[in-house]
Amino acid sequence: VNQRLVVNAKLVRWHLMVAIAWLLLPMLVGIVLSFKLVWGDFLASTPWLTYGRLRFFHTNGVIYGWLSTSFVGLMYYMVPRLTGRALISEKLAWVCFVVWNAAILVGQIGLLAGVSQAVEYAEWGPVADVLFALSFVGMGINVFGTIFKSDEKHLFVSLWYILLGVSFTALNFVMANTLVAYVVPGAANAALEGLWIHNAVGMWITPIGTAIIYYLLTIILKRPIYSHGLSMIGFWSLALFYPLTGAHHYFFSPIPMWTQVIASATSVVLFATVVTVVTNVFATLRGRWHWITSHLPLRFLLFGVFGYMLTCTQGPFQAILQVQPIVHFTDWVVAHAHMALLGAFTFITTAMIYEIWPQVTGRALRSRQLGEWHFWLTFVGFYLLYFLPDTAAGLMQGFMWRAGLPLIESIVAAKPFWLARAISGCVIFSGQILFVLNLTGTCPWSPDAEREPLPESGAARESAAAAALATTPARG
Ligand code: HEM
Ligand code: HEM
Repeated sequence: VNQRLVVNAKLVRWHLMVAIAWLLLPMLVGIVLSFKLVWGDFLASTPWLTYGRLRFFHTNGVIYGWLSTSFVGLMYYMVPRLTGRALISEKLAWVCFVVWNAAILVGQIGLLAGVSQAVEYAEWGPVADVLFALSFVGMGINVFGTIFKSDEKHLFVSLWYILLGVSFTALNFVMANTLVAYVVPGAANAALEGLWIHNAVGMWITPIGTAIIYYLLTIILKRPIYSHGLSMIGFWSLALFYPLTGAHHYFFSPIPMWTQVIASATSVVLFATVVTVVTNVFATLRGRWHWITSHLPLRFLLFGVFGYMLTCTQGPFQAILQVQPIVHFTDWVVAHAHMALLGAFTFITTAMIYEIWPQVTGRALRSRQLGEWHFWLTFVGFYLLYFLPDTAAGLMQGFMWRAGLPLIESIVAAKPFWLARAISGCVIFSGQILFVLNLTGTCPWSPDAEREPLPESGAARESAAAAALATTPARG
């Protein structure tokens, strides 16, 4: 099979372009939110721009618009390449693309207009929910159909993760927008909402992100992953234990205590999952660490994996019943959420986009230098000006509250940290502008001479990667 022909480059390209637009817009809103926390009156008189509405716009925008849309685009790239056949229906994929975008637009504009429901990370109104659910299921049929119709006897581990993430999330999304939004009352509602929140990140973002990690590592290094067995242990521990952790969002609430204890214990067990992934990545990389100095996608990928490790080290720690009362409700959690979705999965997704962009557009990236600036602005902006200050602010707030100090004192004390976050937003955002300029090849101050050539001709590169995948035990 000609691996290049099975991928519909236009379909992938459109998903990625829309996704990047949804990285920029909610990020801009994230910056506005940060300034609002420093200056409470900033843009406070227009209802559409009030904190509550913009916060929903930010979180739903990055989760659905940015990460989910790029995941679909990247699955439409990985699944055909790993199964050796085109999607079962590219027409269906285009229809889903249109409905998916309609859902995002209706949902996001609705949020600004005040149409929302009280389910965290599922705040869109019912019309957007139905559109999104339909397009998600349509996408799922395409992905499942393609995998099941393929002649491959053994599934590469990325396909396992894709099957898990897509099937679980279809059910999880419908549950959140029906049972949690409108049917189940009281503490049971909170328990189900916890199930939804943690599985939105743990059984959608994490498995598709892990699928990308394994796939990308293999095609960049042109070498099989170190251990298929280890990847399977990671897979099954994620599938079995993640769904049990939902109540860790509501510790010391009216949810039955035994449920909370199970959530705390299984959260700690999940540390094993990240260890399997990270061990596998590091072992696969053996002898080639120095590649990260020159290979931009690999560097984004590895820093993303590092962010994933940090998230899942912090996660079990904050799920311990003795630690929870200190960090809950504080900026510590906001830092954790951003390490997960920005420091880990935005880096990993960006890595994959950089790697495949030349193949789906047929031209080299504009400039290596722009890519370097993009990386360093995002990395330094996030770690130094966002993650560390927010984590510190969280600890400070937690201890101030425990000392019985009035809330307003903790707000005043947090302001310098929040200002750092606002500045961080501007730094990170400028990095993303360079990302766009690099992909579109329109940067005026980057002379043609700096264009980075493709390491090998497209076809040679593709077939080498395909051969690496097809001949390795990792696939079986
Ligand atoms: C071993 C893995 C992990 C554990 C044990 C864990 C644990 C937790 C806990 C206990 C909270 C609640 C903190 C609180 O409100 O006091 C939390 C929040 C959060 N986690 Fe994780 N986490 C893990 C990995 C991840 C990953 C991989 C992601 C993203 C892909 C993620 C995304 C989030 C988000 C967005 C929140 C904020 C939710 C909110 O504010 O309601 N976490 N995590
Ligand atoms: C320019 C960069 C960004 C800035 C300045 C920013 C800022 C913010 C602010 C101020 C909040 C509200 C915190 C609060 O209410 O206490 C927030 C929440 C959130 N942001 Fe961002 N953000 C940025 C990028 C991102 C990205 C790229 C993602 C995901 C890919 C993301 C995901 C989230 C999530 C999940 C929450 C909710 C956290 C929670 O409830 O614990 N943000 N962000």
